[in-house]
Formats: sequence, C-alpha cells, structure tokens
Amino acid sequence: MRIAVIGSGNVGAALGRRWSEAGHDVVFGVRDPSAAKVTKLLERAPGALAAAPATATGDAEVVVLATPWAVSEDVVLGLGDLDGRILVDCTNPVQPDLKGLTVGHTVSAGEMIAGWAAGAKVVKAFNTTGSGNMEEPAYAEGATTMFLCGDDPQANRKVAGLAKDLGFEVVDAGGLHVARLLEPLAMLWINLAYAQGMGPDIAFRLMTR
Ligand SMILES: NC(=O)c1ccc[n+]([C@@H]2O[C@H](COP(=O)([O-])OP(=O)(O)OC[C@H]3O[C@@H](n4cnc5c(N)ncnc54)[C@H](OP(=O)(O)O)[C@@H]3O)[C@@H](O)[C@H]2O)c1
Repeated sequence: MRIAVIGSGNVGAALGRRWSEAGHDVVFGVRDPSAAKVTKLLERAPGALAAAPATATGDAEVVVLATPWAVSEDVVLGLGDLDGRILVDCTNPVQPDLKGLTVGHTVSAGEMIAGWAAGAKVVKAFNTTGSGNMEEPAYAEGATTMFLCGDDPQANRKVAGLAKDLGFEVVDAGGLHVARLLEPLAMLWINLAYAQGMGPDIAFRLMTR
C-alpha cells in the first residue's frame, strides 16, 4: 500500500520504518527532506522516500498524521485535497506538561481533524500506546492491543490490516466519536509510564472469554 507518513518523530519514524520493512511504499512528509536526521531515518527504512508534506501525500491511499497536536490544524490544511483518502490520526491533544488533554468530552482531536480534512475517511489509531510499542508490540503476555475507531468500516479494516502488519492485535472500537475515549486512554498510558514511573515498556491488552 502507498502510505504517506506526515511527521518523522518518535511515532512517524517507528510506523514508517516498520511499514517499509513490511513491504509498503512509504513516503515521509517532512519539513526538510535533506535534514541529516531524515537521511539517517531513510537508511533504516528500506525503500522509503522523503518529501515535503503536500508532495508526500501525492497519490498515497493512506495518509498518517504523526505531528504535535498544536500544529496539526496547519499541517492538515497544508496537505491539500484529501477527499476520499484514508487519514490516520495518531495525535493526542496533550497539554504541554503532559498532565491532561486540551479537548475532550464533547469533541476529540480525531473529530476536529475530520472537520479540517474535508471528505477524508479519518481513522483514529496508533495513539493509545508509546512509540516503543510501535517498534515492538510483542510482550510475553501477547501482542499489544491497538484500538482504533472511525466512521467508515472499510477504512477501519484497512488500517486494522496495517496495524496487524506491525504485530498488533486490533480492536475496532466504533465510530469516530469513540476518539473521545481513545484519547483519554492515551492519557492513562502517559500517566502510568511517566507520572507513575512505570516507564514506556507497558501496553494495554484487551482480554476476552
Ligand atoms: N511519542 C509517543 O510515544 C506517542 C504515542 C502515541 C501518539 N503520539 C502522538 O503522536 C504525535 C507525534 O508524536 P511524536 O512523539 O512522534 O512527536 P515528535 O517526536 O515531536 O515528532 C513530531 C514530528 O512532527 C513534525 N512537525 C512538527 N511541526 C510540524 C509542522 N508545522 N509541519 C510539518 N511537520 C511538523 C516534526 O518535524 P521536525 O522533525 O522537522 O521537527 C516531527 O517529525 C503527537 O500528536 C503525539 O501526541 C505520541
């Protein structure tokens, strides 16, 4: 699948590198494609390319947004026409001190992004766990669960496939409004990992019987 990953920080680099390893066509959308850190990333991501965000989006079937929440509106508006495209929203609208969320209850970052990306099929995913778990989702107890949600079931299935390619187990949690629940779940992970000192080698796993 042709995937544009916008942002090449912790999340974008982990997802894009692993998808390129899995055989997907990955283009990183970055502000400075010639930056040394981008060159270094491309060396570790076989076949991947880098371009300016609006160029990277090109004919990508899936566009993955992995930018800080504060710049995400500008970034999405700068991507141009996303009508009909799958837009995977990895963002969390965290406060700068990581102690809480800046939106919630009546709206979510995922729904706001859907408002900025007219016609895109927004799927909230890859936000409820740390980037280290995107590099390695496996634990002794089993795979990390990747929760996702979105209003287009076919888009959700495609993104579920991309999560499975990385080794996640996937739970489709419902429509995009469920991002109002997945974003606080990310906040719980951040609280446990950092405020409670458990560190980033922790993950949520849904059990059933
Ligand atoms: N870190 C995690 O474990 C984690 C887990 C789940 C979800 N998230 C969420 O995922 C998102 C990304 O997190 P991260 O930790 O990967 O952040 P990060 O390491 O700070 O990386 C952010 C990326 O966004 C790019 N960027 C910043 N401003 C931009 C702009 N105006 N236009 C285009 N690109 C821009 C940065 O580019 P430069 O390199 O040029 O600065 C960088 O590549 C956040 O919303 C975060 O809440 C993070």
